[in-house]
Amino acid sequence: MQLIGQGGPAPRHLFVIFGATGDLSYRKLIPALYHVDQDPKAHDGHAILGVARAPLTDEQFRAAAVAALTEHGIPNAEAAKWANKTLYFQSLGESGAPQYKALRERIEQLERTLDLPGNRAFNLALPLPAFAPTVERLAEAGLNKSPGWTRLVLEKPFGQDLSSAKALNALVHKYYPEDHVYRLDHYLGKDTVQNILVFRFANSLFEPIWNRDRIERVEITVAEQLGVEGRGAFYENAGALRDIVQNHMMQLVALVAMEPPALIEADSVANEKVKVLKSILPVDTDHIIFGQYGKGMMGNEVVPGYLTEHGVAPNSHTETFVACKLSINNWRWQGVPFFLRTGKRLSKKVTRIVVTFKRPPVAMFDTYGACVFTQNRLELLLQPDEGFNLTVEVKQPGSGLQLQTQRMRFRYGEVFGKLPEAYQTLLLDVARGDRTLFVRADEIETAWELFMPVLEKRPTIIQYASGSWGPPASAELVARYGQCWTEI
Ligand code: BG6
Repeated sequence: MQLIGQGGPAPRHLFVIFGATGDLSYRKLIPALYHVDQDPKAHDGHAILGVARAPLTDEQFRAAAVAALTEHGIPNAEAAKWANKTLYFQSLGESGAPQYKALRERIEQLERTLDLPGNRAFNLALPLPAFAPTVERLAEAGLNKSPGWTRLVLEKPFGQDLSSAKALNALVHKYYPEDHVYRLDHYLGKDTVQNILVFRFANSLFEPIWNRDRIERVEITVAEQLGVEGRGAFYENAGALRDIVQNHMMQLVALVAMEPPALIEADSVANEKVKVLKSILPVDTDHIIFGQYGKGMMGNEVVPGYLTEHGVAPNSHTETFVACKLSINNWRWQGVPFFLRTGKRLSKKVTRIVVTFKRPPVAMFDTYGACVFTQNRLELLLQPDEGFNLTVEVKQPGSGLQLQTQRMRFRYGEVFGKLPEAYQTLLLDVARGDRTLFVRADEIETAWELFMPVLEKRPTIIQYASGSWGPPASAELVARYGQCWTEI
């Protein structure tokens, strides 16, 4: 995190990607590492070792990486120059016992020839079932220790439920102390997400009113237009609750609702996040809606329903939409509902947090006939069109007293241009040893605990048309509290 950083470039190191031939590696990790390398102040030098079962040579891996980078708009010659200088590949073998001893020898040989001091980051860009065996085998091969630092980067999902998350954390802790572990939730690398703490704690305007006295409700929406996009088999075992709510959305809730940390550094921030997560009441089936997208229109195109997507069981009960109401049982938030909703194949791609402030205590303008009053609203626009809006009521010019809602607005794009990719920030933080934007073991476990009642007793799935805002029950859930979702 730039805010905190540890200052100065990261020391020379080897960045090892497990699952290097997978989608995440080519689409996110390699482009992010390429962009990190464009900043000469980022680190003192590194090499990247791709690891996978496929029997690729260094040259074949470089060619595949160059193709991926070119798709990201990076000129072929520049991509090739970078790949030749930076990328290496080690196969674990297609069958039989994966060759971790050979991997260790390759790592040591690269460190000798490239004059790297033995600082190593292992990024597990792997499906969840592969985490535990990979952690075990790395340790068996002695690769959980090194002459320099060793860091283990785990991509979400961190477990499937509370007990599997605890088991995974326990296994990881057998070989790595917590401060060597980087659980990566890419939402935390987004500048607009980091900005939540800056917005709240660097502007004295908001903190005094950031509580149950002045705030009526908080809404968080993570809406996607995409469907499961060929990831049906993966998604069948996940669903929106595990894929988005338990991790990305609970991190957003924690950042909006936490108390100011003692310091902006990893453990102080994590302590406050855990504290607020522990104050949330577990969610039961009365306070959550599960939906699944059916056929519908996205723009002018007819799209198929979830049940006919590739890799999806024809009678699947996997949810592609979740709406829920959280109650935070602490002094700051008592009685303020937090409404969350996320879904695939919704009307618009948007991630935003809306904080609605209470009405003024005296309704003095309501006495003027046709006067329509709108409560002040802060909209934190996390993506796209990143920035914020703050609505204020103004008097319409002319005789009489009519109010109109106006927006004070800020857009990142207009001031700073294009924002860096989340992975760029996060992978550089791994090399610098800054865990502030990563998720601590107890955050994961506390967030799972909240949803165990609905994982154990799943709500009924309600169909919704692709291109809509989810099942009508989502609006009904909010209406129960006399509220409605703020229009997007
Ligand atoms: C991932 C989920 O973690 O986040 C995907 O697995 C989802 O299903 C993605 O599409 C959304 O990320 P973003 O950054 O586009 O909001």
